[in-house]
Amino acid sequence: MKPKIFLTREIPSTVIAFLREHADLAMNSDDRVLSTAEIVAGAQGCDALLCNITDPIGAEIIDAVPGLQVIANFGVGFNNIDVAAATARKIPVTNTPGVLTEATADIAFALLLAAARRLGEGERLVRTRRWTGWNPMQMLGHDVTGATLGLIGFGRIGRAMARRAKAFDLKIVYWNRTRLSPAEEAEMAVDYRPFDEVIATADFLSLHVAYNKETHHLIGAPQFAAMKPTAIVINTARGPVIDEKALVDALTTKRIGGAGLDVFEREPALDPGLYDLENAVLVPHLGSATIGTRTKMGMMAAQNALAACRGERPPNVVNPAIYG
Ligand code: DGY
Repeated sequence: MKPKIFLTREIPSTVIAFLREHADLAMNSDDRVLSTAEIVAGAQGCDALLCNITDPIGAEIIDAVPGLQVIANFGVGFNNIDVAAATARKIPVTNTPGVLTEATADIAFALLLAAARRLGEGERLVRTRRWTGWNPMQMLGHDVTGATLGLIGFGRIGRAMARRAKAFDLKIVYWNRTRLSPAEEAEMAVDYRPFDEVIATADFLSLHVAYNKETHHLIGAPQFAAMKPTAIVINTARGPVIDEKALVDALTTKRIGGAGLDVFEREPALDPGLYDLENAVLVPHLGSATIGTRTKMGMMAAQNALAACRGERPPNVVNPAIYG
């Protein structure tokens, strides 16, 4: 008998075909986020829930779907899932690490360049037919080559960002909960600094930490006050890592130079102040948005779900404690 899987939203067709071959698939084919009640109804009688980062999966859902054997998230971040509730019920939660590293670092570096060289503003100028020609003093941005990139978090995506930065001769300082060995630091040509020092010395500050209680508003008013007045903040991690109100204040008062944001505190809503700020480049959570990456994420989530349904430990379980 094939396991029954409920998929909360459409994902690339190759993955859907794979799921149909290996499982009895039920899915939401409407292009919208389901409510809690709709997820519960859709997942009734299912062995696996394959959900998205926009689906809050809490105890309410888990308890209302008896027999659920796994929650497989389509995403590396899993702060949308109440992992403690799943763990208490011995249900594995899985994610999709690794496969979106390069795509996400691409977006982070694209935002760095766009914010430094004022590409959003320039595009708006041309598209609104207001450009009157080359001007020696028009839209002067910040040099990237030779500047200092501060990385907050130095996991897979932070390291991929560092690799890109090297091609632009950026000097790299990083802060991470766990420091690399001297040999690794030398090999990657990165310097560890205390958190406050990275904040104070970075020309570009890029965030690469997971979102949790400890990283909520990790970057807020005190950090903006300590940054260089020309500093540019890049966020491709999770919106609430930054206190968005404080960021709007820092950008409005020109306390800092700019921001490049792929993620926001209350997606899809933004702090209203952000929309009109010329010194902010804003894109709609595109970090992993390539066909290849989203397909790999889907295949990984599918394999995780199927493994759990076979009674095996899924390859990417985030709550291994349930296996003792
Ligand atoms: C993730 O996987 O956590 C990303 O934010 C989705 O792009």
